[in-house]
Amino acid sequence: ALGFTHRFVPGTAAGTPPLLLLHGTGGDETDLLSLGRSLVPGAALLAPRGPVLENGMPRFFRRLAEGVFDEADVRRRAADLADFVARARAAYGLAAPVAVGFSNGANIAAALLLLHPDVLAGAVLLRPMLPLTASAPVDLAGRPVLMLSGAADPIVPAANAAALAQRLRDGGARVSHETLPTGHGLSQADVARASAWLAA
Ligand code: MLT
Repeated sequence: ALGFTHRFVPGTAAGTPPLLLLHGTGGDETDLLSLGRSLVPGAALLAPRGPVLENGMPRFFRRLAEGVFDEADVRRRAADLADFVARARAAYGLAAPVAVGFSNGANIAAALLLLHPDVLAGAVLLRPMLPLTASAPVDLAGRPVLMLSGAADPIVPAANAAALAQRLRDGGARVSHETLPTGHGLSQADVARASAWLAA
């Protein structure tokens, strides 16, 4: 057992990094498969289900209120997810994945970058927040990160997303942070921007 309920879709395009698909609150391991297929046709897809339940809704870590995180749990769950990725890479013969995370899934991907910088080859963070008020300096060694925020997002304050971009840049990540004219939900512009960025 790899430790997480998950879906794995083998890749068909050689040399394409696998995508680690991380769903938002209330999603599951099937949620982002079609997004993954349209973002990078032929990429292997690895999609775990968040192991924490909030009123029956799967998530990747506990929160105390909307936007207020249980940071001890963030650290514990990020370590568990890092272990899962290592086991899945060995079991399925995968290169280091690029995370594609939405909302709570973007936040655990950000925690992986800040706490376990060798796990991800890069990341697309859709509506992310800073998952940890403080974290030790980290060496992200030029890792490419695309952050897409929503100008009218009622959950993520602009300053919070900007602080995440800064924290990642402080670690040496190459961060592109764009704000789209939308709310917390995904739009066609997210798919267009993310697929263009992933192709480049
Ligand atoms: C979170 O809890 O990670 C953020 O509030 C985003 C969400 O899941 O709504």
